[in-house]
Amino acid sequence: MAPQIKGMHHTAFRCRDSEATREFYEDFLELPLAEALEIGITKTGRQEQYLHTFYRMANGSFMAFFECPSMEFEFKEQHDFDMHIALEVELDYLHYMKDKATRQGRECRGPADHTFIQSIYFRDPNGYVVELTAKTEAHDDAVDPSKNGAREKLARWTQAKRDAGYGPDAEPGNIRIETGAELHGTAGETL
Ligand SMILES: [Fe+2]
Repeated sequence: MAPQIKGMHHTAFRCRDSEATREFYEDFLELPLAEALEIGITKTGRQEQYLHTFYRMANGSFMAFFECPSMEFEFKEQHDFDMHIALEVELDYLHYMKDKATRQGRECRGPADHTFIQSIYFRDPNGYVVELTAKTEAHDDAVDPSKNGAREKLARWTQAKRDAGYGPDAEPGNIRIETGAELHGTAGETL
């Protein structure tokens, strides 16, 4: 059965400053600001206000942010592997955005050829890596599990990990997993 979940309605992230975030997502990435909700929460008699902003993408889904000045959060330059946001574009727009970034003196990595997609990468004002990615002709076959053996590869990984003595709760650290598989390329270079 096809998935019944239609897609992302919105994905929400903390932001440091709503206006700096708007400049990146609206002025640079060209996603229109769709809503800015002021949310009040009463904590022990004290009213705290947060701003919840939404940026609309072409398919009707939204990137969303919460600016919460009174709530602690550790903003840092996130590693791709910990969290990144990949937004799909046409290849022409990817090149246009690479040129735009270059003209503006903005940091931009790529284009990186991942065979099934091509990507460029930016860092937003909140430390998140934002990837713009265009599908290539190889895309649909590459993500077809009847052709790529995804389930078998996951099983091989899990078996090797369990054989090495690591369960699902193992903390990441000095763990080596010997699957014997041929490794595919590299990813996660720093921006
Ligand atoms: Fe990615």
